[in-house]
Amino acid sequence: CDGKFFVGGNWKSNGTKSSVTKLVEELNAGSVPSNTEVVCAPTFVHLPYVSETLDAGKFQVSAQNCWVEGYGAYTGEITAEALGDMSVNWVILGHSERRALNGETNEFVADKCKKALDTGLSVIACIGETLEQRESGKMFEVLDAQLAAIAGKIDDWSSVVVAYEPVWAIGTGVVATPDQAQEVHAYLRKWFADNVSPSVSKSLRVIYGGSVNAENCSDLATKEDVDGFLVGGASLKGPDFLVIANAF
Ligand code: G3H
Repeated sequence: CDGKFFVGGNWKSNGTKSSVTKLVEELNAGSVPSNTEVVCAPTFVHLPYVSETLDAGKFQVSAQNCWVEGYGAYTGEITAEALGDMSVNWVILGHSERRALNGETNEFVADKCKKALDTGLSVIACIGETLEQRESGKMFEVLDAQLAAIAGKIDDWSSVVVAYEPVWAIGTGVVATPDQAQEVHAYLRKWFADNVSPSVSKSLRVIYGGSVNAENCSDLATKEDVDGFLVGGASLKGPDFLVIANAF
């Protein structure tokens, strides 16, 4: 696509005071190429520390979720407004772990995308099929429905990155082959051309997630429609994440 290569690190529910301090030090000691945007997503409790200490010249920070409404009586939830107020400008939404473990539906994810974008945040919107859906020939139908829900609620895609994360590849060590990733990314690119607009299809970054590591990232990065990565496990290791951030 036209945009910069994009590498996100999703730290999920990991990190202690000491491991997060070490990771920030390791990342700050590394370099990031000017053709790549790198965004780290620590837990909510670590976000203020990370956003104050991570070198803003190289890295941005993201939350891993936000609430669908604004400030109010929603015990335990974090609003998009609060994130913006804390200078957190990105949020990951629709991650398959939230869809599976927290029952987030396509509609709910789409509502949250709209809320985050309306509040001025940029969104990493995650989609992806399970192994069962892929093997039963429902993969494209599932991806269509996930995207259509979001497209039904938002018009402006300029602050969205779409993360294609096949569920069977997440945390399993089973990475999609570069050809498997390219096949789906090309399909998604066409979906956007047909269902949103050719210009959005051209400018939208579609990134791949699922067992990306320091060894497999460069082959994946050569694929035409792979515009970056969303990295889980390997984003917790500073040197490895820096290799991935320099893959393109
Ligand atoms: O958000 C990141 C993905 O869930 C990938 O996780 O790299 O540990 O497979 P993983």
